[in-house]
Amino acid sequence: MNKLNDVLEKLNTAQVNASWIFNTNITNYNEEQLLKETSKYNKEQKAIWQEIQKFSNYKQYQDPALRRQLEKLSVLGIAALDSNESQKFINISTEMERIYSSASVCLPRNGSLKCGLELEPDLSNIMATSRDYNLLRETWLRWRDSAGRPIRNLYLEYIRLGNKAAIKNGFKTLDDLWLFPWETPDFKQQIEQLWQEVMPYYQKFHAYVRMKLRKFYGAERMPNDGTIPAHILGNMWAQSWTNIFDVVAPYPGKKSLDVSETMRAQNYTALRMVQLSDKFFTDLGLIPMPGPFWRESMINKPTDRKVVCHASAWDFYNRKDFRIKMCTNVNMEDLITVHHEMGHIQYYLQYKNQPVTFREGANPGFHEAIGDLLALSVSTPKHLSKINLLSDYEEDHELTLNHQMQMALQKVSFLPFGYLMDAWRWDLFSGKASKNEMNRHWWMYRLKLQGVSPPVKRNETDFDAGAKFHVPASVEYIRYFVSFIIQFQFHKSLCDIAQPNVPLHQCDIDGNQEAGQRLAKALALGSSQEWPKTMEMMTGSRNMSAKPLIEYFNPLWKYIDEQIKNENVGWNFNVNQYMENNL
Ligand SMILES: *[C@@H]1O[C@H](CO)[C@@H](O)[C@H](O)[C@H]1NC(C)=O
Ligand SMILES: *[C@@H]1O[C@H](CO)[C@@H](O)[C@H](O)[C@H]1NC(C)=O
Ligand SMILES: *[C@@H]1O[C@H](CO)[C@@H](O)[C@H](O)[C@H]1NC(C)=O
Ligand SMILES: *[C@@H]1O[C@H](CO)[C@@H](O)[C@H](O)[C@H]1NC(C)=O
Ligand SMILES: [Zn+2]
Repeated sequence: MNKLNDVLEKLNTAQVNASWIFNTNITNYNEEQLLKETSKYNKEQKAIWQEIQKFSNYKQYQDPALRRQLEKLSVLGIAALDSNESQKFINISTEMERIYSSASVCLPRNGSLKCGLELEPDLSNIMATSRDYNLLRETWLRWRDSAGRPIRNLYLEYIRLGNKAAIKNGFKTLDDLWLFPWETPDFKQQIEQLWQEVMPYYQKFHAYVRMKLRKFYGAERMPNDGTIPAHILGNMWAQSWTNIFDVVAPYPGKKSLDVSETMRAQNYTALRMVQLSDKFFTDLGLIPMPGPFWRESMINKPTDRKVVCHASAWDFYNRKDFRIKMCTNVNMEDLITVHHEMGHIQYYLQYKNQPVTFREGANPGFHEAIGDLLALSVSTPKHLSKINLLSDYEEDHELTLNHQMQMALQKVSFLPFGYLMDAWRWDLFSGKASKNEMNRHWWMYRLKLQGVSPPVKRNETDFDAGAKFHVPASVEYIRYFVSFIIQFQFHKSLCDIAQPNVPLHQCDIDGNQEAGQRLAKALALGSSQEWPKTMEMMTGSRNMSAKPLIEYFNPLWKYIDEQIKNENVGWNFNVNQYMENNL
């Protein structure tokens, strides 16, 4: 196993390296190199996998770490396909990513048609800042024409091959293969249960935001089924609503807690944002970013080449090289994203001496939760004031509610989206949803869980899910739902150490090394033990729970209840109403 570990490190390093080069410099040549490297990687992974299968009695081994490594290595994933189909799968995946990352659209701007507009930063900026209903609708629509539609047929083939691979790994369908790392037999039920727990709160929040949007855009712009049009929530996918804070703020006259302006006024740069985040980690006694991180990370969008802008954090598996890649804008949203990505890097650093097989989050949700967890402290008004991004700080009722609203626009709005991305894919993979109704099924979930509706009728040529990065890029998404739930559990347990008498929403763990140690100890374990054990170390309980999230927003629930007395909470929905060519 020790020897294998060295082999795996080298294999991974080579593959990650090729992927990094392509992701930070999209050229045909780099794509070819990546394809070559990936198929080599898959071949060798497969050879190892076949070797591992000789140890078919590993379950009887005494050493639990050895047993666990073999168990993890017994599942290979897509590379289990035979080489022809494996190659096909790689080609399809790369092609989908290429389509997504190079999609651009034309939009009417200032009386003429402006072309070559890309998601980052052009379209995202329009979605965030424009309050022009028609321009927003056009932007929303053109992005889906350009990024979603061309992916549809590729995705059908992706599902077919993915399911075939699942069978080769001993699973029934691809969703089961995806759920393997969660080690939770009733995982889908647990997620549904968590959703049921938070749903009443989401629906209240939805009713409040809808009321404010109706006041802003006029009742005639709002569907009469009680849903919110998907394009007016400040985000291309309506997954985070922070950009419409101005429309929904409880106290709009009050100082904004979005410190973007201040950051720009203070000449913040991407580098300074990363440094600020690094300092928060080191003040907790955690590991500082190593040299290669500072030298090799891409934190600004290059002007001389195409890159995959979607922010990400990279482990090169050589215990030295860790990088982030991000087209950073100087604003608060990206400051939070910087913390998010740095959370991944901190995890990589903490578990770098584990065997390669254990260099993962306790479960995938843990990995997503760490940076967000710290950002919960960083974005408290008190902390922002401490780092000079908020002047004249005084904690009063109005400030509290504005802060609560801002956080809810980020965290509460996301929950149904975090669930439906994979609920939808699970259904496609398992065959529960028909291949002829992929888009319809997408909108069924969007309507049912999120309560958002398309501003234009959709049909099955459209492939709206494909216009979201994680579908073409094949990144599972339920990890984000889990992360948004458990980061509040982690926050609560660290706050019990750092500031036990402060309400959860005001707690700032900054500088508390005891809290830092609690965290470090859990991170350093990687996936070397089952996640409920690590959860217990962190929180004292083995289970996921939505209670801390609900507790965090207590002041907001009270406020919203008063505000929506005349609103109908919830919505009706009928997918047919939004689809052309009903089958
Ligand atoms: C991008 O990749 C090409 C190879 O396709 C290479 O010639 C070029 O130097 C690379 N650019 C940068 C900035 O690395
Ligand atoms: C439209 O034109 C005005 C005046 O020339 C300019 O200030 C504005 O930035 C332009 N808007 C866009 C989106 O190009
Ligand atoms: C879907 O709608 C587009 C126009 O919006 C049209 O070009 C396409 O043919 C339609 N597809 C189907 C299957 O009706
Ligand atoms: C944890 O979850 C298990 C299984 O779902 C359940 O039986 C148990 O009661 C839960 N424990 C707590 C403290 O909620
Ligand atoms: Zn992440």
